Amino acid sequence: MADAPHTEPSRRTARAVARSVRDGTYDDAFAPASIAEVWTAVQACRRCDLWRNATQGVAGEGPARAALMFVGEQPGDQEDLAGKPFVGPAGQMFDKALAEAGVPRSETYVTNAVKHFKHEPRGKRRIHAKPNVGEIRACRWWLESERRLVRPKVIVALGATAGRAVFDRPVTVAEDRGHPFDLGDAKGLVTVHPAYLLRLPSQDDRAKAWTLFVADLRAAWELVG
Ligand code: URA
Repeated sequence: MADAPHTEPSRRTARAVARSVRDGTYDDAFAPASIAEVWTAVQACRRCDLWRNATQGVAGEGPARAALMFVGEQPGDQEDLAGKPFVGPAGQMFDKALAEAGVPRSETYVTNAVKHFKHEPRGKRRIHAKPNVGEIRACRWWLESERRLVRPKVIVALGATAGRAVFDRPVTVAEDRGHPFDLGDAKGLVTVHPAYLLRLPSQDDRAKAWTLFVADLRAAWELVG
């Protein structure tokens, strides 16, 4: 297990939260009052089956209030072990792009659409598997809780899975990127997932995708104002 990324709530709160989540009474009986409660409660989440094969639930990280929220897909192998979002190879790519765009990660809230690592065994390795629509929908309750608490002005969906969670509809990055959508209480943007940059085989394509990604991050920061 990883270091606790947030101040722990009291044991009484933690027990109440775990009971509420286990009993599936999420919406009526329990709404997390802090990100620390989200972290505690997500460990007891049984809204779908992904918890079964994950080391732990990984919620978001960042200031309790942040004007800019990033949403990825799901924790990867390293995030699952570390208990932190975006610390593996995609996270390092993300950090580099944020630095180039002049966006301080420490002032943003970084989370994922799905809070448990979905994977398939291949020998000793755990291979990333894409969350399905039911899993994204089940986990949306947590994302909405984080959104209610953090109150971002701008939410950036990193990739199509995040887009579906943020916008509650199918999203095509190529079509939807480049302009803000009205989410009521926030503006929503779509860009590629940083892992996409790692997968592109040609150096030329990688360089072009990198430039566009950095520009999207910069535009999101400017939209915050
Ligand atoms: N990919 C994601 O979408 N999120 C992470 O936290 C790590 C990799």
